[in-house]
Amino acid sequence: MNDDDHSLLQRRRQVLGTGAPLFYEQPLHLVRGEGAWVFDADGRRYLDVYNNVPHVGHCHPHVVKAASRQLATLNINTRYLHGNVVDYAERLAATTDYDHAGVFFTCTGTESNELALRIARHVTGGTGIIASSVNYHGNSAVLASLCTAFPVPEPFPDFARLVQVPDPYRHRQGRSDAELASHYLDEARGAIASLEESGVKLAALLIDPSLANEGLPEFVPGYLTGLVELVRAAGGLVIADEVQSGFGRTGAAMWAHQYHGITPDIITTGKPMGNGFPIGSVISSYDVVDEFGRSANYFNTFGGNPVATAAAAAVLEVIENENLIANAATVGAYVQNRLTELMTRHEIIGNVRCRGMFFGLELVADRVSKNPSPLAGRIVNRMKDRGVLLSRIGPFDNILKMRPSMIFTFEQADILLAALDETLEEAAR
Ligand SMILES: Cc1ncc(COP(=O)(O)O)c(C=O)c1O
Repeated sequence: MNDDDHSLLQRRRQVLGTGAPLFYEQPLHLVRGEGAWVFDADGRRYLDVYNNVPHVGHCHPHVVKAASRQLATLNINTRYLHGNVVDYAERLAATTDYDHAGVFFTCTGTESNELALRIARHVTGGTGIIASSVNYHGNSAVLASLCTAFPVPEPFPDFARLVQVPDPYRHRQGRSDAELASHYLDEARGAIASLEESGVKLAALLIDPSLANEGLPEFVPGYLTGLVELVRAAGGLVIADEVQSGFGRTGAAMWAHQYHGITPDIITTGKPMGNGFPIGSVISSYDVVDEFGRSANYFNTFGGNPVATAAAAAVLEVIENENLIANAATVGAYVQNRLTELMTRHEIIGNVRCRGMFFGLELVADRVSKNPSPLAGRIVNRMKDRGVLLSRIGPFDNILKMRPSMIFTFEQADILLAALDETLEEAAR
């Protein structure tokens, strides 16, 4: 960090507080982005393997042009008729499996999940929520109280229960897939029963179908579909939080729930949707959207305004025109193979978890005890020193998490893999 950055950091702390999070021991002062690259104030470039908000690459010209053109024409609240808004809602609805989908627009993933919970409670007449044991779905009062991915001041609510994150790497203990799925499902049955015993009627399961904040664990066949059946049998709705997983990241489909073979009652989106322009959505069957909209008079000043929907429409166009879902599959498979190769050279890698353009490396002290490695934080910082940005996640914060833009190339993957190889080698010394 140079002197100017130090002084900026001090000023930031004075005005935003010391708790406002920043990545890295030496925070990065970024000033520009282009494609998969970002540039700091000294002109040094970094390969961005972490930020999933610039979904089709930083400052993609098609998105910049579409949003700028609309910004220079009209930007207004959402209580007026506008073609962009309706056109985009129709296109978004058409990406789902609903026969006739309806859409609410929001500005963030938090707003999307909060609204989805309101809808689920309205439809079911219940209040109960089931979430995963390492969840983060947003920063509103309800979502923060559910959060278990990191400490929050709010007490965990009486109307919620957690189901254990399925993690075959740690929990298999000689069990077959079917035995393991049935073990997790027994626990889920217990969570639902416990709500009932407390007199709380179930409203919803809120879950990211990729379990991204949970550390991208390998899926146990039958678990997610079984969980959905249990929730429906108890009268609850299923909310798929696609805020991280959506828009083709799995490389197999537009939505992660399609990849995992479940049909949610409600889909929520955010982060990648506008390539950095704030926009999120709640998608459900038209009847649900129409009925809730009439009861609640749902109105969101900025959510899905003409500029936001111009940016989001351009993102869909880039995904399609540049074949980015297929790119996530092919480049993703390449990275997965190469990460698996790295495992043969680096004992610290206990487990490789990949789905399309989503990669996780679980770092362990040794492969027998599987105790979490304490070196993940150091490795993330050393990768940054080598010009590659990634982060870490999971219940023990020991899983390297990589989510590059969907335009990530084989050449860029090689840069990532070479830096990882060197950094893991260094960590072993
Ligand atoms: C899975 C998931 N859902 C929801 C959110 C909340 O999104 P936002 O920060 O846009 O409110 C996040 C943010 O990290 C997330 O990872």
